[in-house]
Amino acid sequence: MKTEILKIDRENIDEKLIDKAASSIRNGDLVAFPTETVYGLGADGLNNEACLKIFKAKHRPADNPLILHISNISMLDNLVEEISESHRKLFELWPGPMTLIFKKSKLIPDAVTAGGDTVAIRFPSDEIARELISKSKTPIAAPSANISGRPSPTNADDVYYDMDGVIPIIIDGGQSNIGIESTVIDLSTDQAIILRPGFYTYEFLKSIIDDIKLDDSLVDDSKIPKSPGQKYKHYAPKAKMRVFIGNDSANYIKNLSEIHSKEGKKVGILAFEEDKDKFKDYVCLSLGSKKDLKTMSHVLFSHLREMDRLGVDIILAQGVREINLGKSIMNRMKKAAANDVNYI
Ligand code: TXA
Ligand code: MG
Repeated sequence: MKTEILKIDRENIDEKLIDKAASSIRNGDLVAFPTETVYGLGADGLNNEACLKIFKAKHRPADNPLILHISNISMLDNLVEEISESHRKLFELWPGPMTLIFKKSKLIPDAVTAGGDTVAIRFPSDEIARELISKSKTPIAAPSANISGRPSPTNADDVYYDMDGVIPIIIDGGQSNIGIESTVIDLSTDQAIILRPGFYTYEFLKSIIDDIKLDDSLVDDSKIPKSPGQKYKHYAPKAKMRVFIGNDSANYIKNLSEIHSKEGKKVGILAFEEDKDKFKDYVCLSLGSKKDLKTMSHVLFSHLREMDRLGVDIILAQGVREINLGKSIMNRMKKAAANDVNYI
């Protein structure tokens, strides 16, 4: 299959290109598209056959459910069974980087829910995503547009790398603004539970609805996550990755780099802007300033993919404390490093 790239300027959206992508969705084909978090791999969310194509293209385990993307809150009515009054306050944060899980309606095909009785819904803020959903006249089922287990793509080139020859259309809308996936919150029972931390942090969400908690697995690493997707190996670059946190992490990484280089290994370093100068002799990509976690989340996944392209054997990365956005970033880093996270 030939993969076509439709370049769309979000400041001046070309309606003809959106129409072309929307007819592909309506035909039951796959379209990769930008969102403010990461790129999604979209299909008609009410067409079971089309949704099954997503699993095939991504090599996604069949028990991992999909998120339905909507372009208007009123689309919720047909898709979900009931919404608790106290949870409605969260709608203030839509459109945005937040996915909410409800009891599903009868309309939802099995492929979307992986056979379960709940459905995940997201109303993205990205204009291209919203236009595509609204022109497709259907909710769009979309996981991140990577091969399962790889870092989520945050630009069209990274999607192309994984999906060239596998899907007919990739919309290129530039770099995703946020860079890590949406916060997933389970509202299918009275207790709101954060299943995946994201740009909207626990601390922030608690200021919107007081009665919200983190899934046990996000507080205690030994607990099994409630969300199917969270239990899989994820975000993994090809190289082995190790993470170091603390005031002396840069010096520690510098010593390790020397040792690995002497062993003949190609070392790649992810360092804060403040420490970058220490690593002039190595492949080093900047995570932005220590004080700027937004930049760190914005660049993390594309840097992991860049390290793969550069062919490094080992990635040594500086990490952050698990509070606020740091918790969401470390959730991805821990998985990418298969839990090789060290406090120095
Ligand atoms: O930012 C995002 O959420 C991106 C963009 C494209 O919207 N999408 C995304 O989808 O990250 P995906 O499939 O890569 O991650 C969705 C997560 C998975 O961990 C999945 O297990 C979980 O949401 N999920 C989906 N439906 C669920 C359900 N009904 N119950 C529990 N977890 C669910
Ligand atoms: Mg994913």
